[in-house]
Amino acid sequence: MTIKEEIQQLKVARNALILAHNYQPGEIQDVADIVGDSLELAVKAKEAEEPVLVVCGVRFMAETAKLLSPEKTVLLPVPDAGCPLSDFLTPEMIHEAREKYPGAAVVVYVNSSAEVKAAADITCTSANAADVVKSLDADMILFGPDANLASFVQGQVQEKRIIPLPAEGHCYVHTAFTEDQIREAKAKGWRVVCHPECPPGIQSDSDLIASTGGMVQHACDCDEWFICTERDMGYRLRKLHPNRHFHVDPNAICKDMKKTTIEDLLRTLRDGVYEVVIPDEIAVPARKAVEAMIGIRR
Ligand code: 13P
Ligand code: SF4
Repeated sequence: MTIKEEIQQLKVARNALILAHNYQPGEIQDVADIVGDSLELAVKAKEAEEPVLVVCGVRFMAETAKLLSPEKTVLLPVPDAGCPLSDFLTPEMIHEAREKYPGAAVVVYVNSSAEVKAAADITCTSANAADVVKSLDADMILFGPDANLASFVQGQVQEKRIIPLPAEGHCYVHTAFTEDQIREAKAKGWRVVCHPECPPGIQSDSDLIASTGGMVQHACDCDEWFICTERDMGYRLRKLHPNRHFHVDPNAICKDMKKTTIEDLLRTLRDGVYEVVIPDEIAVPARKAVEAMIGIRR
């Protein structure tokens, strides 16, 4: 039996659903039941009928699934698959900022710990960040941890003041793209799409700014794309649209997203590891913030 066959067999035996983020290695995407962006994975986790969810991605994605499906067993194949962006924001920073800006609402990107979500009013993803901010009564929004996403939202929601928390929060994968890369891509006649975690200069030079799910939705707009995001997004898009061309930067690698191997996934299904557990005192307020986002949808 091949490893893929073994995974399929164990998945059925355990009544498990495999969810994978768009940045996962191709072999993981190939065996997953659902491949999507952070919001799509969160919604599917909530709607799933299976009692076991295996989240192939990074920790905040598995924690979000657990918050939305507390009765299910949520497994993360590699327990130290994290997100360096999420480490920029702590609950203490939120408490201090709330004192400094009374009356401001706190919106945190799902790329954050459960503790940070517990200190927030509502969460957002890159797919719904502007809609989440527009839905709030407050005119002042404390937004973290991604300062580039905050800047993107400020452009979309000019009637409110968005304060990035902290000012320097960023993703090392998305801030590595350069304006030269965009110029070269455009000189070749390619259309450029960037993720809103890219810096403002890259955002303004791009033809489109989109979440990874948005990139899937817009893939048919053009035949040749330059994709400013993690390189395995190219795998996802090429599989969906084999006749189109999706150019990526081969060095745009999220190291944590690449930690999960097919062997890890097999072990997870075989041994039931590693279960995501969030203590109630954090899970209850964090769930409120994530449920508030799901109530808004896109
Ligand atoms: P998406 O929600 O757009 O998939 O983004 C998640 C992420 O981690 C981007 O770096
Ligand atoms: Fe975090 Fe960046 Fe990796 Fe996305 S690409 S999971 S923001 S480190």
